[in-house]
Amino acid sequence: MAPIIRTEHLRKVYAVGKERVVALNDVDLSIEKGEFCCIVGQSGSGKSTLLNQLAGLEKPTRGKVFIGRHEISAMSETDLARFRQAHLGFIFQSYNLLPTMTAAENVALPLMFKGVDKNTRLALARKELKSMGLLGRANHLPTEMSGGQQQRVGIARAFVSSPKVIFADEPTGNLDSTTSKQVLYRMLELSKNQQVTFVMVTHEPELARCADRIVTILDGKVQSSVVQDEETRRRNREELFAGLDLTIGGKAAKEKGQGGGKTEAGRVS
Ligand SMILES: Nc1ncnc2c1ncn2[C@@H]1O[C@H](COP(=O)(O)OP(=O)(O)O)[C@@H](O)[C@H]1O
Ligand SMILES: [Mg+2]
Repeated sequence: MAPIIRTEHLRKVYAVGKERVVALNDVDLSIEKGEFCCIVGQSGSGKSTLLNQLAGLEKPTRGKVFIGRHEISAMSETDLARFRQAHLGFIFQSYNLLPTMTAAENVALPLMFKGVDKNTRLALARKELKSMGLLGRANHLPTEMSGGQQQRVGIARAFVSSPKVIFADEPTGNLDSTTSKQVLYRMLELSKNQQVTFVMVTHEPELARCADRIVTILDGKVQSSVVQDEETRRRNREELFAGLDLTIGGKAAKEKGQGGGKTEAGRVS
């Protein structure tokens, strides 16, 4: 199968005063369609830089980035912005929700850029929130929600426009361990059900162990890119999600209108 994301001799050098920081050094990487890929490595190793290059958020100093058959590293800023809106989704560590908009309005936002009319936008946003167990929070502002709830709104927003690839930089970085697991579970479930390719940076090994592919970065180079066999992955997911209340939001999920009953751990394995 042809990879959906591919880099060739990718290099990124930052200028800091008179110093030059080589953040990525000759990275050749392939990620297959539908894979849930985790990028791991020490702080400062180049994980975020790599993710930003793959997502077309920054231009490489040298080398190429392809998504599907498109060389995004060669696109103009305008074409790239359009490509991102049409095909890519993003989940941020600090959620990046607009504070004056409700959960539903935040989720609906990417559809506005696609020219979808308001009623359809909000209906699709509510559907996405429902699958995140958050229908009861549709009219809440971000400040009225917990970190885990806000991040689930962030995930719903990334998924609403049916992107081919979703990029996430430490999406569970601000969440407690239980909430992190619940959020990861949702991402795995959506990636599996909707065949979305996922690239997630994390420094939590127990989360990365659940991925289809683990890419380890060291000093700006890919140290390894390992596809985990199905059995290992299934065992790791079962271990991680064992005993977890996957109704997400715990008590909140039991409130009326939240939808979604008890989910069996390991279903995404
Ligand atoms: N915008 C920038 N300007 C200058 N140096 C940067 C910039 N972004 C990252 N770096 C440097 O590049 C290296 C890799 O950073 P980063 O990709 O953020 O690492 P990680 O996400 O693995 O912690 C680090 O040495 C960092 O200081
Ligand atoms: Mg980083």
